[in-house]
Amino acid sequence: MNDDLKALIRTIPDFPKPGIQFRDITTLLLDPAGYATTIDRMVRATIGKVDLVAGIEARGFLFAAALAVPLNAGVLLIRKDGKLPGATIAEDYALEYGQDRIAMHEDALVPGQRVLLVDDLIATGGTARAAIRLLRKAGATVDQVQFVVDLPDLGGADALRAGGVRVDSLIRFAGH
Ligand code: PRP
Ligand code: MG
Repeated sequence: MNDDLKALIRTIPDFPKPGIQFRDITTLLLDPAGYATTIDRMVRATIGKVDLVAGIEARGFLFAAALAVPLNAGVLLIRKDGKLPGATIAEDYALEYGQDRIAMHEDALVPGQRVLLVDDLIATGGTARAAIRLLRKAGATVDQVQFVVDLPDLGGADALRAGGVRVDSLIRFAGH
């Protein structure tokens, strides 16, 4: 399934460190038909009416913005902390070593709005879980999350599903 798109993703061995197989979406983005097909399939996977598509900086923006147009939805930016000019709310999440923090404008949504969260890839799911906490703190209804790539061995998508969220991804790389 979606092997045509999977073939457009390049694997860079040992980046950013030895033993990691980096799944590189830049080659998919460079292919006009592949990028358009990716967005089209994400549109088809979307259930029900969505008010806003939330994208996670940086690579998530590339899919969230393109998806929002055919869905007739707005785009909500979830950024690394310190980049947004207005009043923000933030959430911390764990990295392999240390912590990071993502933020959104506190007035970016009206409580009750239906938000589709989008990112390019889910690995441990730490980023997506923090984004869902953040959106819900602002009052959003978040029932569905979409990724282009899932690394299922890392368990992130299953953890989200265990929390009751619908998770869709187009491509899986097992044995990351
Ligand atoms: C990558 C990827 C996801 C996240 C997935 O982003 O784009 O956002 O990691 O990892 P997780 O499921 O283990 O949390 P990264 O922060 O490396 O940078 P970028 O999107 O800004 O390039
Ligand atoms: Mg990212």
